[in-house]
This record gives sequence, C-alpha cells and structure tokens, in this order.
Amino acid sequence: MIYSITNEEFSLYQTLVYQQTGISLSDQKQALVVARLSKRLRELSLPTFQAYFDYVVNDTDQDELTRLLDLISTNKTEFFREPVHFQFLKEHILPHLQDSRCVRVWSAACSSGEEPYTIAMTLYDAVPDPAQWNFKILASDISTRMLAKAGKGIYEEEMVAHLPKGVLRRHFLRGKGDNLGRFKIKPHLSGMVVHRRINLMEDSYPIRAPLDSIFCRNVLIYFDRPTQARLVAKFDRYLKPGGYLFIGHSESLQWITHPFTCVAPTIYQKPGREVKREA
Ligand SMILES: C[S@@+](CC[C@H](N)C(=O)[O-])C[C@H]1O[C@@H](n2cnc3c(N)ncnc32)[C@H](O)[C@@H]1O
Repeated sequence: MIYSITNEEFSLYQTLVYQQTGISLSDQKQALVVARLSKRLRELSLPTFQAYFDYVVNDTDQDELTRLLDLISTNKTEFFREPVHFQFLKEHILPHLQDSRCVRVWSAACSSGEEPYTIAMTLYDAVPDPAQWNFKILASDISTRMLAKAGKGIYEEEMVAHLPKGVLRRHFLRGKGDNLGRFKIKPHLSGMVVHRRINLMEDSYPIRAPLDSIFCRNVLIYFDRPTQARLVAKFDRYLKPGGYLFIGHSESLQWITHPFTCVAPTIYQKPGREVKREA
C-alpha cells in the first residue's frame, strides 16, 4: 500500500513532535514523514496517517510514541565528526583539570554513540596515565533505538574505516567469525560512558555533578529559537563556571540571548572559571 498524508494529518504530527521533542517539522517535511512512517503503518495494517496518529495517542504506555519519535529523528553521526572540538577538549580543557584528574562531559544528543566514544578516546589518549584519572561521560538521547546501539558499542567497518590504524588497534576489538567486519569498543572506553534516555525538552535533567563540558551538536538546528534559548539556559545550570558548550558547525547561538562567551566558532564558555587559591 502506498500512503499519502493530508495537510490536516501532517499538522497533527507537527504539533505532537514539537510538543514531545522540540523538533519543528517545517511544511517541507511532509515527504520525509511519509517516507519514515509508512513502513510502520503497513506493519500495523493501519489505513491512514490519522489512524496511526490515533493509535499513538491512545497507547497509554507511550511505547508507540517513543517508536514514532525514533523514526522521525535524524541520527546521522560519525567518529571524530567536527574534529576541532576534540582538539579543543584536549588542548584547552583537559590541562585545567590536571589537579583534580576528574572530568565530567555530557554528550547530550549522542545518537548511536560515536560522539561520546570519540570524547572517551580523546581523553584517554591525551594523558600518559589514564587509569589515574576519573573520566565520566554521560551519553544521552531521546531515541531508545539509538541508545541501544550506543550501549552495545558495535560498529560496522564502514563507520570506522576512516580512523587511524593506531586508534582502531587501541580502542576497538576486531570481530571474528559471525562478527567479521564489526568493531567493538574496548572495555576501557565503554567503562567511561554511561547511557541514559534524556529528552532535552524536560525541565530538569538527572545530572548531579556540575559538568566540565556539554556537547550538544547537530540537534539545536531542529529546534526553533525560543526552544534553543530555553535549552541553552538549562545547560548553563549544569555547567561549572568556566565550563564549555559545544554546538554543531552549522549551528549558532547568535540569534538567542544567552550567558556564554563565544571563545571559538561553535565553542562557548560559561563565565567565571573557578580560581585556584594558594594554601
Ligand atoms: C543528528 S544527531 C547528532 C548526533 C551527534 N551529536 C553528532 O553531532 O554527530 C541528532 C540526535 O538528536 C536526538 N534528539 C532529537 N531531539 C531530541 C530531544 N528532544 N532530546 C534528546 N535528543 C534528541 C536525535 O534522536 C538524534 O540522535
């Protein structure tokens, strides 16, 4: 069966997706919604997008809503995407944490995990004695499907083909037999990363310790400006004074009011680095 969506049906999805995720689907996204949801309508033998909408909103445990949001969201990512951010982490953030040897980073829309594992590799490789450091990376996303992938830490060869041989050797286990062509993140990295489902639209997040850095890259672009402004204000609450916010290279905070100082393109710092006092 070939599905099509009416303007009225599409606007139901626009409102639902916006309320649940902050993602604003422009009118040009009708074809995308049809392409991504048709298979699910077929699986459920539902005749129209209205019928699927009713099915989603009447599902009391909200499993179908989670599924719908999984299908709608764009999950493109890769290891060492926008590499200057990792360089900055290594050269400008890590040296200031030498005394405490404790680093807390949040990858706030981690998709299938390449970003938090890249942060883990960067930190691990940047110090001579990683076992003496306390590295903790919180990796979160709204998509349970992506989080399941991230938690497994298993990637097909094409996802790691661009990585230097040394990185592959140090940080990945090469699959054998049935797993030939797959690469699994080694335990010294997976042990640094905790995965959790967090919807960025929630009023507060289950994060206790103040963070040294937040990576929120390539997701702001899907939100409208008021939503971006609310989100960035929340990030401010969870960062240490002097902590950093990284956004995607095609994103900008230029159009919203925020308390951060732009220290490099797409890198923002919360004012007031803690000053170390002499004893
Ligand atoms: C394009 S990926 C970005 C992945 C990674 N940060 C990067 O730059 O490579 C966008 C991710 O944002 C997630 N996302 C969208 N809306 C969200 C929300 N309201 N809360 C949390 N994650 C969300 C999607 O599920 C998707 O995995």
